[in-house]
Amino acid sequence: MKHLLKLSDCTSEEIIGILNLADQLKYEQKHNIPHRHLEGKSLGMIFEKASTRTRVSFEVGMNQLGGYPLFLSSNDLQIGRGEPVEDTARVLSRFLDGIMIRTFEQEEVEKLAEYGSIPVINGLTDYCHPCQVLADLMTIREFKGKLEGLKMTFIGDGNNMMNSLIVGALKTGMSISVACPEGYEPPQDILDFAAEYGDKFEMVRKPLDAAKDADVVITDVWASMGQEDEKKIREKAFAGYQVNSELMSVAKKDAMVLHCLPAHREEEITAEVFEAHANEIFEEAENRLHAQKAVLVTVMKD
Ligand code: CP
Ligand code: NVA
Repeated sequence: MKHLLKLSDCTSEEIIGILNLADQLKYEQKHNIPHRHLEGKSLGMIFEKASTRTRVSFEVGMNQLGGYPLFLSSNDLQIGRGEPVEDTARVLSRFLDGIMIRTFEQEEVEKLAEYGSIPVINGLTDYCHPCQVLADLMTIREFKGKLEGLKMTFIGDGNNMMNSLIVGALKTGMSISVACPEGYEPPQDILDFAAEYGDKFEMVRKPLDAAKDADVVITDVWASMGQEDEKKIREKAFAGYQVNSELMSVAKKDAMVLHCLPAHREEEITAEVFEAHANEIFEEAENRLHAQKAVLVTVMKD
């Protein structure tokens, strides 16, 4: 595996391989067992959007692996002043051993990989959030002991999270049911991908229909980064698309709740449900570190 640009590029075996390595690295970190697989390697971390978890977990993770992370804000880079990504890719490839990028267009990440000669990791685009979903799958497996045969439900926007969850769930043997309002469905290529999995994928309008007998219930913000101007319109469109106690009452009794964070209480999730599942949600946040270290080792180790 050369890059992590989107989960649909990965085979099921590659995804499971990353999850297995993530479990091992988590164990090693908890038991103070050194795992400096990337000694002497440098990772550039380009951020064109805000971040708490992705930035800190990549930076700390790279340090734990013996490597050197560089935080590169687009406010300070020439890319923020219009230098083409094709040139940035070729220049950074001469200094660094890997690039993590958080940006808007998926095309920018793909171009970085195409024009550069070093591994590229997608730290979120408008299209997908593969690192988050690897951490989500890791967390589900940790709590449930397996992925195969479980039912995932996603309530809300057909956004980067929904897209990656659909691909990640189906590739690891889960079924997934999503509920989104009209006009906020995932893009056609994701629906085409999901259609190949027959009745393992379902898209419905009513959140209660999607959540029936779910093992894992997941949601995300109604307005993603870059959509702040649409907040009012979105609040109207997503009214009722909330993970609350009524919704949880139709899921399995022992259903988990995950949220990539940041969360907006009383919008996509009630404070009550959030706090009842805080142990899962914050383990999920921690697992960003372990899952991403597994990705870094997979794509950057000699
Ligand atoms: N979930 C997630 O990606 O968080 P940040 O935006 O804080 O990185
Ligand atoms: N859908 C959200 C995820 C944040 C981690 C966004 O893109 O803002």
